Order: sequence, then C-alpha cells, then structure tokens
Amino acid sequence: MIVGVIGSGAMGAGIAQVAAMAGHRVIVYDNNTTALVKAKKSLANTLQKLQEKGKITSADELVQRFSFADSIQAFQGCGLIIEAIVERLDIKKAVFAEVEQVVSDTCILASNTSSLSITSIAAACSNPSRVLGLHFFNPAPVMALVEIIPAIQTDPELIPVAKELMLQWGKTPVIAKDTPGFIVNRVARPFYSEAIRICEEGIADMATIDWAMTELGGFRMGPFTLMDYIGHDVNYVVTETVFTSFFFDPRYKPSFSQKRLLEAGWLGRKSGRGFYNYAEGVEMPAPNKDVVLGTQILERILAMLINEAVDAQYLNVASAADLETAMTKGVNYPKGLLQWCDEWGADKCLEKLDSMYHEYHEDRYRASILLRKQAIGNKKIV
Ligand SMILES: NC(=O)c1ccc[n+]([C@@H]2O[C@H](COP(=O)([O-])OP(=O)(O)OC[C@H]3O[C@@H](n4cnc5c(N)ncnc54)[C@H](O)[C@@H]3O)[C@@H](O)[C@H]2O)c1
Repeated sequence: MIVGVIGSGAMGAGIAQVAAMAGHRVIVYDNNTTALVKAKKSLANTLQKLQEKGKITSADELVQRFSFADSIQAFQGCGLIIEAIVERLDIKKAVFAEVEQVVSDTCILASNTSSLSITSIAAACSNPSRVLGLHFFNPAPVMALVEIIPAIQTDPELIPVAKELMLQWGKTPVIAKDTPGFIVNRVARPFYSEAIRICEEGIADMATIDWAMTELGGFRMGPFTLMDYIGHDVNYVVTETVFTSFFFDPRYKPSFSQKRLLEAGWLGRKSGRGFYNYAEGVEMPAPNKDVVLGTQILERILAMLINEAVDAQYLNVASAADLETAMTKGVNYPKGLLQWCDEWGADKCLEKLDSMYHEYHEDRYRASILLRKQAIGNKKIV
C-alpha cells in the first residue's frame, strides 16, 4: 500500500518516516516547497544517522521509498492518506474535500489533528465513512502511542483495520471517542493548568512545583519545564481549544500567565525564554525542597489528573486499559492514573477534590460522579 502524507512539518515528516520504516512507499505533499525541501533533507539525515547507529541496514534503500510532491494529484494510487497540516478546521476541511477528488474510493483518509473534531473534518467529504483520526505523538518515530479516533460517520469496520496497521507499524494503538483532546490532550490538562494555578496563587514557585512533580511524583519532567519544551504556541493553543470545545467548562480553563507568554513571543525553549529563561549564563531558579509542601503540590495536581481520567472512563471516552496505556505511552506518566487512584484510594482522592471544591467554590474542582461512587462503595477503579 502506498501511504500519502499531507504536510511535511514536524509531524508529517515523522509519520512519513514511520510508514517508510514499516515498508510502505510514501508520498509526502506540502503546499510550501521550502518546507518540502527541508523535510527531504532532514529525513535523509535522520535515516543516515539511524544507519550509523546500526538501527537500520540501508538508509539509501529507505530514501528510495519516499517521493516528495508539490501537487495533491500525486496521491492517486494511495491506499491511506494521513493529513498533518496546520491546526485549522477550515483549511483541513478544504484539503480533505480536495484530496477525496483525487484518491480511489477505497482510500482511507486520516487526520493527525490534536484537538479538532474528526466528525467535523469527515463532514467535508462526500464519503465521510472512510475518515478517521490517527493521532501520533511528537516525535512520531519515537513515541509509541497512536490514538485512533472514529468520527460518528466512520465505518466501524475501519477501526480494526486501522488498529492492525498501527500494530504493524510498531505502534501502540488506543481507541478514543471523538471528544475534545481525545484521551491524552484531555486527561493531561490539569498537569499544566493546576501547576500554573498553584504558582499564580503564590503557594509555590515554578522550580518547586517542577521539583515536587519529578522528585516526589516520578514524572519525567515538571509541568513548567514540559510546557517550555512543548512550546506555548502549541500547549496554550491546545488548552484553549479544549476549553472552548467543552463549551467553556471551567475544568479546562486556560491561564493568563501562559497566554501572556504566548503574546510576548516567549514560546519556551525554542525562543530562548518561556516560564524559564534559557539565555546563556542565566542560572535556573532553585526549588524549595520542603517535602510537606512538595507533597501538597503533588497531591493537588494528581487528584485533578486522576479525576480527569476517571471522568473520561465514566463518559466512555476510552476503555480503562486504553486510558492507562495512553497516559503511560503518550506522555510517559510513571503509572496509569486509574491504577494510581486505586493505590492512593478513591476516597482520599475524592476528599482532596471536595476540600478544594469547598475552599474555592469553583466548578473547576468538581469530582467525577464515578470517583464519588467508587469512594463511597470503597471500590477499586480498575
Ligand atoms: N507538533 C506536535 O507536537 C503535534 C503532535 C500531535 C499532533 N499534531 C498535529 O499535527 C498537525 C501538524 O502539526 P506540526 O507540528 O507538524 O505542524 P508544522 O507547522 O510543523 O507543519 C505543518 C506543515 O503543513 C504544511 N501545510 C499547511 N497548510 C497546508 C495545506 N493547505 N496543504 C498542504 N500543506 C500545508 C505547512 O507548510 C507545514 O510544512 C497539526 O494538526 C497538529 O495539531 C502536532
């Protein structure tokens, strides 16, 4: 099967590499020739490095599997198209409608969108039953998780086909309902937003919150370091999209602190400054390693994360097993949040949320009904 990839940016190039390494011929199309040339060069470089490290036998052989096209007409013989262009619904819809005119009737059309509705993208096609979401994580060749998101119009028979293909590509697929943020970008929101909130309230500074989450919580990166790494142009925009898509549910409310960084162009590591200043010679702030304070920070953020995971389970966004896989493979959490809930105790988690709810009188801290039921019945979640 020939795989077509639309968009040769960070995600498109990564997905193209994954498909080629799984044995497919891959056609990459981008409407920006400069981006296309850049992707061609960087893919060749990456494959060369992989050969030097002994991870692949022949970079040349893999390079032969790629073609780079400046016209969508090149997709005629493709069996699968994966779109990874700019995160704009109007543009994605136009591209899907256009590509459908070129490909065969049996070609599967997938979007790598992080936060837009797959149903809405599918509606741009005359045959929406062949459209679904295939959400890879960055960098696509490294991150195992792929969220498969059927639109409400998607042919149910397509789901096992997509799942099998992702397994063949060496990926770990999970199935997610077409709801804002799917699994990872929904459940992970409090990791960022509650950390910012704690900082805004002056309870602790960024370095201390990062320290608590990594040293006491076992997360690979603290929230501020991670947001700076992802970039506020991506991380803030996802938060805002999830918030508006959830009809302004306060649980997903973005913060002014992060919005201001975006407005200032302080995008994080890539621009040399974000929450932290990465300029040479600038010393990173030191955390306050007070374990009592650190534990309070960890428990507050963790209670919010667990609540999101439990609520996603309650609303059938994904199975319990897929929720656990998504958070451990998509954002490398040290353990699944449902398992964490069981270990910590649903009652303790609920107590934490309810005490915040009573203290703040904000809907942001409302507990999922499933968490409440599990806590009252003293039952385990998984
Ligand atoms: N970057 C991430 O961490 C990440 C992770 C998962 C999903 N995504 C999603 O993947 C998609 C792409 O993200 P990215 O980070 O690779 O973006 P990017 O800006 O690196 O690349 C986008 C590419 O699409 C091209 N493009 C834009 N409009 C086009 C059009 N109409 N036709 C053809 N090509 C067009 C651009 O020239 C550019 O090369 C987005 O939907 C994003 O939400 C991003």
